[in-house]
Formats: sequence, structure tokens, C-alpha cells
Amino acid sequence: MPDKIKSRVDTLISNMSLRAKIGQLNQPETPTENNIEEFKEAVRRGEVGSILMSVGATAGNDAQGEINVDFYNELQKIAVEESPDGIPILFGRDVIHGHRTVFPIPLAMAASFNPELVCRCYRDTAIEATNDGVHWTFTPMLDLCHDPRWGRIIEGTGEDPYVGAGIAKAVVEGLQGDNLSNKDSMLACAKHFIGYGASEGGRDYHRTEISDYSLFNYYLPAFRAAIKAGALTVMSSFNDVSGQPVTSSRKYLTDILRGNLGFEGFVVSDYDAVIQLIKQGVAETPEQCAAMALNAGLDMDMHDKCYIDNLETAVKKGVISESVIDEAVRRVLTVKIRAGLFEHPYTEKKTIDRSKHLADAREMAAESIVLLKNNGVLPIDKNSKVGLIGPFANERRSLLGSWTIDGKAEETSTLSEKMREEIGGNLNVINSAALAWDSTNKNIAAADVVVLALGESWTATGESRAVSDITISAEQKALIKKAKTYGKKTVGVLFCGRPIAIEEIAEDLDAVVYAWHTGSEAAGAVSDILFGVKTPCGRLPVTLPRKATHIPLYYNVTSSGRPVNCYYGENPGNCYVDSMPTPYYPFGYGLTYTTFDYSKPVCNNSKLSLQEVKNGKKFDISVFVTNKGENSGKETVQLYIHDACAGMMRPLRELKGFKKAEISAGKTVKIDFELSYDELGFYDEKGNYIVEKGKFEVFVGKDCLTNNSLEIEII
Ligand code: NOJ
Repeated sequence: MPDKIKSRVDTLISNMSLRAKIGQLNQPETPTENNIEEFKEAVRRGEVGSILMSVGATAGNDAQGEINVDFYNELQKIAVEESPDGIPILFGRDVIHGHRTVFPIPLAMAASFNPELVCRCYRDTAIEATNDGVHWTFTPMLDLCHDPRWGRIIEGTGEDPYVGAGIAKAVVEGLQGDNLSNKDSMLACAKHFIGYGASEGGRDYHRTEISDYSLFNYYLPAFRAAIKAGALTVMSSFNDVSGQPVTSSRKYLTDILRGNLGFEGFVVSDYDAVIQLIKQGVAETPEQCAAMALNAGLDMDMHDKCYIDNLETAVKKGVISESVIDEAVRRVLTVKIRAGLFEHPYTEKKTIDRSKHLADAREMAAESIVLLKNNGVLPIDKNSKVGLIGPFANERRSLLGSWTIDGKAEETSTLSEKMREEIGGNLNVINSAALAWDSTNKNIAAADVVVLALGESWTATGESRAVSDITISAEQKALIKKAKTYGKKTVGVLFCGRPIAIEEIAEDLDAVVYAWHTGSEAAGAVSDILFGVKTPCGRLPVTLPRKATHIPLYYNVTSSGRPVNCYYGENPGNCYVDSMPTPYYPFGYGLTYTTFDYSKPVCNNSKLSLQEVKNGKKFDISVFVTNKGENSGKETVQLYIHDACAGMMRPLRELKGFKKAEISAGKTVKIDFELSYDELGFYDEKGNYIVEKGKFEVFVGKDCLTNNSLEIEII
């Protein structure tokens, strides 16, 4: 921290009363008309360090009104001009995947394998949200997840730490911009620290069991990347890890987060999590909750008022030392100064031209959508007669996804509207409201292709919205079966917020487009892909299992001692006797409207000494990729490693590089990768990073099942 900021913070703290210090650690939610006057008084007394700009425990599931900028400016004026120390309030809101312009759900953005575009979308987001007075957003959500039943899988980046780390960096850099103190830079918050995505059975808020080895290698890399990219705030998670609530865990919030990851910002609790230590059974009184959380390293208390109501007496009784409070306040004030809050505490709302943001949203939606299957029916010829059926043909709200508290369904087009713009009278929307169709329907009889708009509602995803069966409704499945009986070519468009069990659905369709919940421009992007205006190029950041009963199923598993690595098809019958547990669509998978051929990868320096690697020497790996088809297309070339023999068991495949390249028809391009110290090691259970001598298989191909490989060695 620069000395100037440090001395500014020291001066502020030396003049503050204990009450005012604790006020900086207090984050109530936006007042309602019932408590507004009382709330203003609290601001006046310096008891409100930050405001959560929403109402309710599950903000992403409830409609939140538009932000009233004047109202927040009025509260700010009280803080700046009337409170004892004049410290501005930090306004925070869940701006998760876009603000008024809604980008695809984060899981879909991960499918773009395009961090540069992710960064651009989050820059747009920051421009819109800061114009509404939001200084701080609770994103990126970096919870690695192996269980698609969990409703919050939509908010994360899927099953891979490398993708998670790349997206974490892109989001933080996009939100915070070139200079954090710019008016249109918004503070990022990496959440939920840690292990929330591992909740048992996908049941929200439930316990997790995570070894330190798994923690360091699977769950922490994305947080490490966010912190390295400049994230100055972290939100602790609701869950416990192996019996320790994270909220009160010094091991996680201080030893690992600050000690191992080098985090220097402040930690905010999740909503009411401090007082919930009582329910979790590790504290008996609110005072104990407050003391335990603060001592663990949790600086700001979201909503439950546990700090503001209890810390003063806790200090007086000697339960907690004032120096611990000073430390937490120091961190909060440092972030406020670095964010430029003292220089521009107020918001002057301007009119924003969102056309560029909407164009980015359209591009991102198109890059996120994954073509899973195509028996030659796609792209659809615009002169064909197309029947459109299914509950999502005229749907708006679900296309936005959950956690969009500022997006507007009424500003979102439906798939039928966008397809009609493309092919006019050639489109017949068939009985989309009812989930049945009738053989005598002449529109079906006349159709060359039937598009089924299917999926899951946004209300089946998000916080506190786990499902026990990851599939689409029985009625929709019946619709697919029925469609098959009419002998028409069928295209299923799946608007889903999570990976679903896909076998039963995909078998009966000629083409399957995984459209996720892709935001404000979802419908236009799907239509572009259906008619070949855009060529699909998304790749799965999560495995799509055949059946829900195969969960957890993820690609970066360690090798079993017996030959039953079911993900990779080794003796699958020895895994389950009653079903085939290979993925239906593996991690990294996705089709385009052309095909690509790969040369064998080569490495001209395939042996390097450990010392050379430590000194920064890299293995240079390259592959030639040829577009064999007639259409131009984007290929995501993926590089995986397998550390063949190591001190700890290493995954059979680990993604360690990807390049998305546009390749014209008939052209060959050379794709280069580098493998360095940073990619070739792993963490031991104490969090030490280790690179060992030995051989590595390096795979380069179109998804995690590729066998196109070479060997390198650290000698
Ligand atoms: C609870 C959620 O877990 C968290 O992600 C969110 O930021 C807060 N509520 C605030 O709405």
C-alpha cells in the first residue's frame, strides 16, 4: 500500500470513536419507507459504512426496483456532511451478469472460452452500473461446482480451475478498468470464499467436505487469479468446510486467504451469515458470533447488524481487542480510498448509449451457445418453412436467467420474434402455449424443419433453488417424442441455466443447440445460429452427463488404481453394471458448421531441466489446425496435461491452455502454446506450490477426450 494512503487511513482512524469505527464494518440493506428516518439517523451517527442496494435475503430471486440515484445521493450527503468523520458510504449491489443490458449467465460466458470478450462485457456492465451509483458489485462468483443440481451453478464458471482463473481475471479487469479510482470503475468482489459450490447433494447452504489438497488445487485457483488481477474484496461463504463454518474460520479467512493467497483487501460476510453461527452450532450469543467472525478475519458484516449491535460491548468486556477492529477498519478505509470514493462520493447520472453494450451482449450470446448435435439440418435454409413450437418460443424472462436484478424482460425479444425478423412468413409459430400439437395442424404438415424451444425456467436456478432432477419437464420430453413421429427434421433449442442430463433428449432430435439463459440478446443470437448468420463456437465448461444419477461427473479426475476410469471409457461396465457412465458430451465439447483437422502437436525443446523451468524457460508446443469444410469457423484449440507420476495423484487431464481462432475454409493455421512453471506444478495440502521432475503427456485437441498427444519431460 502506498505510504500516502496509509497515512491518510491512520489519520482518519486516530480521530474515530469506537462506535464510528464499528460503523465502517456495518452493511445494512437499503431502507424501506418504514425505517427510512431511523436509517438516516444511523448514517448521521456514522454507523453505516456500506449499503447493500437491495432488499431481501435472496436478492437475485426477487424483483428489485430500479435504483433511485437521488435517494442514494441524499444518504451520501448525510454521511459526508453530517456524520462525525465524513466518510462516504460504499454502495454495493449484485450486478452479476450485466446491469440493464444483461449478458449471458456466467456459466454460459465461460462457454465462450473468450476471456477478452468477457472482460469487455464486464467493462460495459461497470459503465452502466456506476452510472446508477453502484460502487461495488458482488461478482465474480468463482465457486467451482461438480453438482448441476445446485441452483447457483449458473453463476460460476463450471468444473475447471483453469477456466475459472481465466474468467476471474477477465471479470475483475473488466469491472475495475484501467484505474480503480475512475468514476466508471466498479470494485469487484470474489465470492464465495470458500467451497460453497461443493454443498452436499447440490442442496444450497449445506455442508461441504473438502480436503486441503482439493481446496488448493480445485477450489482456490480462481480466487488466487482474482486477487492477482486486483480484486480488493472477497465475500465469505455461508457453508462450513469439514465442520468449520467459513464465517468464523481463521484458517480459511486469514491463514489461507491472506497468508497463502496474499489478499490485502477486506472480507464481507454473506447475508446474515455472522448471526447464523448460532444455527451452525458454534456460538451461543450474537456477541460471540461477532467476536468469532471478526477474529477470524471477516471485516464487514452484511445485514444482520451483529457487529454494530455487539462489538462495542465486546471490546468493553475485553472479549475482543480494539486493535482487531482497527485492522478491519483500516482495510475498509483503504479500499474506499483506492476506489476514489472520497474524491467522487456522489453520482451524476448521465444518459448512456447502450447500443455498443447490446452489440457485445449479442456477440457474447453467440459465442456462448454450444452446438451439441447436428445431423446436417443446421444451418436452416432461410427459404425453408419452419415450425416453431415449445414453451420457450415466446418466452422473455427466462432468457435473461436468474440474478438479473436490473434487466427488463419487456426489453428482451422472444425467439419467435427474432426468427420472424429473419424469415418472415416462412415461420409458423405452432401452439406454443400448450405443450401439445396435433397431426392435422397444417402448419406442421407444411414445415420442412421443426424447431422446439425447450428448457428450464429461470426460477429453477439461482440461490436457494436446487433441483433433484437435472432435466426438462416430462411434457417437453413428450413433445420431443411426438415431434419425432411426424417425420420432420427437428432442432431442439435448450434454454437452460445448468448442465442437464441429456441422453434421453438428444437421442430423438436431429440437432441440439444448447442456448443457456443468454441474456438480453439471447433470441437474436439463437436465430443467427439457426440460420447460419453466425457459426456456433461455444464449448462446454461443464460435462453433460447421460443421466442425473451419474453426478458427480467431471473430466479432471485422478486415475483409479483399477482400470475403471469411467469418464474416459475404461471398462465402463465395471463402474455401473446398469448404465454407461461416460459423459454424453464431455468438457470442452462443441460443434461448428465446419470440421477441423489437427496435426500431431510438436515441441522442439521437449526436455528442460527443473532449474531451467524455475528460471522461466518454457516448453514451446505447436499444432497445425486445418479447416476442412466450406464454411469459416472458430475453433477452440485446447491443451491438456497429465503429470504421469507425481508426489500426489494428478488428474488424468488438466486444461492448461486454450486458443480460440477464426479459421477460413480450407486454411491451416499454426497454434502455439507455452507450458511454464505456472502450469506444470500443483499444490500440496499445505498450499506449497511444487514443480517436480518427470514426464508429462500433453494433449492438444478439440475437447478433453482428445488423444492427440506428445511427451515432455522435466529432467
Ligand atoms: C446472498 C448471496 O449468497 C450472495 O451471493 C449475494 O451477494 C448476497 N446475498 C447479497 O444479495
